[in-house]
Amino acid sequence: MFRINPEVIHNIIFGVLPWFKWGFPLLRPFYHFHEVANEFSVMGLHFRNRLGVAAGLDKNGNMIEFWDAVGFSHIEVGTVTPLPQPGNPKPRLFRLIKDKGIINRMGFNNVGAEKLRKRILKAKKRVRKDFVIGVNIGKNKTTPLENAFDDYAKCINVLYDAADYFVINISSPNTPGLRTLQGDEQLNTLLFEIIMKRNEIVKTKQLPEKCIFLKIAPDLTDEEIESVYKTAMNYGLNGIVATNTTITRDNLLSKINEEGGLSGKPIKALSDRVLRKLNELNGNNKEFVLIGVGGVFDKSDYKDKMILGADLVQVYTGMIYEGFGITNKILK
Ligand SMILES: Cc1cc2nc3c(=O)[nH]c(=O)nc-3n(C[C@H](O)[C@H](O)[C@H](O)COP(=O)(O)O)c2cc1C
Repeated sequence: MFRINPEVIHNIIFGVLPWFKWGFPLLRPFYHFHEVANEFSVMGLHFRNRLGVAAGLDKNGNMIEFWDAVGFSHIEVGTVTPLPQPGNPKPRLFRLIKDKGIINRMGFNNVGAEKLRKRILKAKKRVRKDFVIGVNIGKNKTTPLENAFDDYAKCINVLYDAADYFVINISSPNTPGLRTLQGDEQLNTLLFEIIMKRNEIVKTKQLPEKCIFLKIAPDLTDEEIESVYKTAMNYGLNGIVATNTTITRDNLLSKINEEGGLSGKPIKALSDRVLRKLNELNGNNKEFVLIGVGGVFDKSDYKDKMILGADLVQVYTGMIYEGFGITNKILK
């Protein structure tokens, strides 16, 4: 597979595998990781184990049933934007094989909120009841930054009945200016509007309050992490996903000079640092969820995240290098 262009092979897999949906349940007995000791519950959400698929791998929810069958407890689909968009020009996805990393500048290519909603609702009928489907939301490239809150609110509105939880993505380096939303003032405005929207939906549609998490970058300073954490707490958010990809390029073996976000082994230490800091700030607060993402390839990486305070762990790049059997490797 590594001989083929990364985006081409991705599209082949995501185009062909869904044709075999009928066969996915046959995989379940080989990937059964449900131990009572490893369950996790928060605000009405119940996870059968601690491992999930990170955002961006199944942006359009084409393979939701597959992630359930191979043993993950949850998938974060998206990032989705209110309107469909093509993303950045290709090539935009690069392997750093020597470093076991990936650089991407996809730019939120996705089918849009309406279509994703339909896919999730369809998949929900086929997955096991305890499979959790989160939706990672973002803004369209053409929406001015000062109106970003409007795009996040639209996504929440359209997807409210389909999503089990939402993640506000303000940390992708591939949408111009998006990361500035992590700044104190911008984040306050954004979260205020988002929480207002959720409360309005809960009231008018008589639906349960759903968890909202925030996904942050690994490049924040300790002061910035503290400020984001405090703002998230102030607005009653339910947790933080740490972290997205990095724009730094330290100590790489591969000779590559491409713009975008770096993921995989090279970001493990950076993501771990953010998680450690968040856990320090969080203390014994069991209600505020920490989701550890970045550089998880095996059981030892997974354990590191748990020791640093993660309630849940997600993988993306590790699965590209280790294959779908990574659940077996980590959870068995
Ligand atoms: C090709 C690619 C696309 C991604 N797309 C998204 C995305 O749309 N939204 C998002 O929040 N994170 C996205 N990510 C970031 C991952 O969800 C994850 O946070 C990051 O890659 C670190 O985890 P990893 O080292 O296990 O890959 C993407 C990562 C990659 C490699």
